[in-house]
Amino acid sequence: MAEPVILVTGATGYIAAHTCVCLLERGCKVIGIDNLSNSSPRVIERIQQITRRSIDFHRIDIRNQTALTAVLKHYRIDAVIHFAGLKAVGESVSEPLKYFDNNVCGTVTLLRLLQQYGIRKLVFSSSATVYGEPAAVPVGEAAPTSATNPYGRSKLMVEQMLQDIVRADNSWRIATLRYFNPVGAHDSGLIGEDPRDIPNNLMPYIAQVAIGRRPYLQLFGDDYPTEDGSGVRDYIHVMDLARGHLAALDRLSAHDGSFTVNLGTGRGVSVLQAVAAFERVSGKVIPVQRTARRAGDVATCYASVHRASELLGWHAEHDLEKMCADHWRWQCNNPEGY
Ligand code: NAD
Ligand code: UFG
Repeated sequence: MAEPVILVTGATGYIAAHTCVCLLERGCKVIGIDNLSNSSPRVIERIQQITRRSIDFHRIDIRNQTALTAVLKHYRIDAVIHFAGLKAVGESVSEPLKYFDNNVCGTVTLLRLLQQYGIRKLVFSSSATVYGEPAAVPVGEAAPTSATNPYGRSKLMVEQMLQDIVRADNSWRIATLRYFNPVGAHDSGLIGEDPRDIPNNLMPYIAQVAIGRRPYLQLFGDDYPTEDGSGVRDYIHVMDLARGHLAALDRLSAHDGSFTVNLGTGRGVSVLQAVAAFERVSGKVIPVQRTARRAGDVATCYASVHRASELLGWHAEHDLEKMCADHWRWQCNNPEGY
C-alpha cells in the first residue's frame, strides 16, 4: 500500500513539529505548510535530523488561495491536520480582527479548497478554552461551551463551522481535538516550544527563569479555591499529544463519522506543584512572586479522558517529571530558542 500523504498546516509550530516526527516515524509522507509567523524554518532541519526522513515544506499562508491550490493539486493528499493559527489570548483581545481573519477566515479558505479537491479527512486543533469556566471537573466533551476572549471564540466558531459542514455532507470525517495544556519537548532536545516574546504560558516561563533569562515567575493568583490557592491545569506531554493525532487519523481511516475528543491526562496540577516539579528536575530554584489573578483565568480545568480512551484507544503516558525533564533539556540545549 502507498504511504499515506498527510498535509500539516502550521507545520513548524510547537505541537505540529512533534506530530510531524510521529508521522514520519510511522512512514507517512508529510507535506508541511506554514507562513513562519510564529516559528522558525530551522524546525524542518531538526525534524529531519531526528527522523532521518524528509518533509516537503512550503512557506505558505493558509489564506493564500492560489498557493494553497498549487499544493493541493500537486499531491494526492489523504488527510489534513490543521494546526495553523494564532494563539495569544491577550493579543486576541487587543487585535480581534487579526484572530478572526487568521483563524476563522484562514480555515474557511482551507476548507473550501479541501472540499473542491475532494479531501474529506481533517483533524482540527481546538482547545480546552472552549469550555470557558467549567462548571465541574473533570470536564467532558458534552459540557457547555463558551468563549471568554476572541482567541477562544475563533476556536469555537471553527468547531461550529465544522459541525455544520459535517451535517451538510456526511462524507466528511473530522476529528476535533481539544488540547489541554501541552508542555515538554521531544527527548532529543532538538525541538521544543520557542516563544517569540515574553512567554504567556507557565512552563516556558518557568524554564526561562530556570535558565536565567528572567528573574522570577509571577504567580497569577494564590487565592483560588484549590488545594494550595494556585490555578490547576491538565498539563500534557507534547509527545503524548502528538501520538493522539495519529490515533485520531487511525480512527478517521477506519470509521465513518466525525468526533470531538479531549486530549489531556485527566490529572490536575497546580502552578506551585508544577514549579516544585521543575525545581526537582532541573536542580534550580525558581523564585516566585505572588501577584494578582490574571484576567480571564479559571481556577481549575482538567479533562475527562474516557472518550479518548474509548474512541481512540489513546491515553497520555508521560508524567509531570518527564514533562519538566524534557522541557528543561530543550531549554538547556537551546537557551535562546532555535
Ligand atoms: P504555534 O504558534 O507554535 O504553531 C502554530 C503555527 O501556525 C506557527 O508555526 C505559525 O507560524 C503558523 N501559522 C499561523 N497562522 C498561519 C497562517 N495563516 N498560515 C500558515 N501558517 C500559520 O502554536 P502551537 O502551540 O503549536 O499550537 C498549534 C495549534 O494548537 C493552534 O491552532 C493553537 O491554537 C492550538 N492549541 C494550542 C494550545 C497550546 O497551549 N499550545 C492549546 C490548545 C490549542
Ligand atoms: N501562570 C502563572 N504565571 C505565568 C503564567 C501562567 O501563574 O507566568 C498560571 C496561570 O494563571 C494558570 C496556569 O499558570 O493558572 C497555566 O497558565 P497557562 O497560560 O500556561 O495556561 P492556561 O490554561 O491559562 O491557557 C492555555 C493557553 C490558552 C488556552 C488554554 C486552554 O494559553 O490559549 O490553555 O487550552 F486557551
